[in-house]
Amino acid sequence: MAESSSDLRRRRWWRSTTTRVLAGVATLAATATVLVTAPGADAAASTLGAAAAQSGRYFGTAIAAGRLSNSAYTTIAAREFNMVTPENEMKPDATEPNQNQFNFSAGDQVYNWAISHGSRVRGHTLAWHGQQPGWMQSMGGSALRSAMINHIQKVMAHYQGKLAYWDVVNEAYNEDGSRRQSNLQGTGNDWIEVAFRTARAADPSTKLCYNDYNIDNWNYAKTQGVYRMVQDFKSRGVPIDCVGLQAHFTGGSSVPSSLQTTISSFAALGVDVALTEVDVTNANTSQYSALTQACMNVARCVGITVWGVRDSDSWRSSESPLLFDGNGNKKAAYNSVLNALNAAGPGPTTTPTTPTTTPTDTTTPTTTPTTPGGGSCTATLSAGQSWGDRYNLNVSVSGSSSWTVTMNVPSPERISTTWNINATWPSSQVLIATPNGSGNNWGVTIMTNGNWTWPGVSCSAS
Ligand code: G3I
Repeated sequence: MAESSSDLRRRRWWRSTTTRVLAGVATLAATATVLVTAPGADAAASTLGAAAAQSGRYFGTAIAAGRLSNSAYTTIAAREFNMVTPENEMKPDATEPNQNQFNFSAGDQVYNWAISHGSRVRGHTLAWHGQQPGWMQSMGGSALRSAMINHIQKVMAHYQGKLAYWDVVNEAYNEDGSRRQSNLQGTGNDWIEVAFRTARAADPSTKLCYNDYNIDNWNYAKTQGVYRMVQDFKSRGVPIDCVGLQAHFTGGSSVPSSLQTTISSFAALGVDVALTEVDVTNANTSQYSALTQACMNVARCVGITVWGVRDSDSWRSSESPLLFDGNGNKKAAYNSVLNALNAAGPGPTTTPTTPTTTPTDTTTPTTTPTTPGGGSCTATLSAGQSWGDRYNLNVSVSGSSSWTVTMNVPSPERISTTWNINATWPSSQVLIATPNGSGNNWGVTIMTNGNWTWPGVSCSAS
């Protein structure tokens, strides 16, 4: 059942009462006034990514490089999602088509599209029995072990420091909870931990995940098999940071009632948990709602990714399993997911922290200049939730309803998410925000990369 907007507001937890004046106000354009005050209106977010960001989570999609020329596709993807998984472009057959000859063109295409639209990226996948290049399929033993290690090292080196997560190992278990027979398994039972140790050494900055399907039901043997592996890895110090439940509720499967137990049980081992490839037969509204709620109910469930944008983009398109129909219209399940995201409690907060920088300029602007066109506007910043590596800023624009806000983000900070605006990016450090019909309250998530200085903003009206 949909919650009322007052319920949604009541359940918000991340609001800050901090009142501060933005550093660097003096540098603002003459047509702008920028205040930093207590948070303003607290409207529910109107896109999936923005709604998820409010509790520190992401909402992602699989992106196919071949569809990036389709503007209907990219318009939805850019608007709604703030995490991208390349559907096929970072798999071994794509990245190493010939042994030790690497090709990152398609992977880079998806990566560049994602970050230029304020999204982070999950790498998918490094070691898998599927989608191996031909040369790897016919390999075994120590030669394959060496090739796997080399593949992980080279691919991770290319994306070093760029990806939020990597699916290091994909689908290594049988339905009965035993290891899947494959050429990789044939190199020795320790191949998975070798893959994770290699991955940690190759890029210590990214989170390393094990990813699989049919591990959503806590009472299922396969779930227990993977759980025991993660438990073993954690107890022996094998580097693993996250578990991805693919959550394909298509092809005859459906959301199990134990999903939240599964998520919380993995999380209790000390790993992040994500739903990584979600689709649901006929986009059943209550199932979409239930899976979203199961994630929202576990603080360490870091995000949800649906496996495609529109039904027509799905690997199982005949089941119409996604949140947008083939014409790009939002389906009923979209609203149930959005409501559950907006109502979410605390997300993957390690320790909520307040940005540590002290404003260098505490002068409150006293005028709201007018522009030759007759309009004027004021952009007011306020602190949102913050985490160990990023913070949210809320922006409230008053005055003219026809505004343009320019936000300059000091390097090495980067905006990773925006909500309730049309965003364009003259450069990685500059955001131009204009209204998208969602009103005048919007926001951004900023990855600090070690620097917590708030961005400078200017507002101009027309
Ligand atoms: O690009 C070629 C095209 O040139 C060729 O004409 C055509 C002929 O069949 O094939 C095209 O490649 C297809 C590729 O998708 C791109 O569309 C492959 O045949 C097809 O096998 C491949 O399917 C992918 C599948 O993984 C392969 O295992 C799906 O797109 C992709 O959605 C799916 O994703 C997996 C996850 O990685 C892991 N979990 C399960 C999930 C669903 O199967």
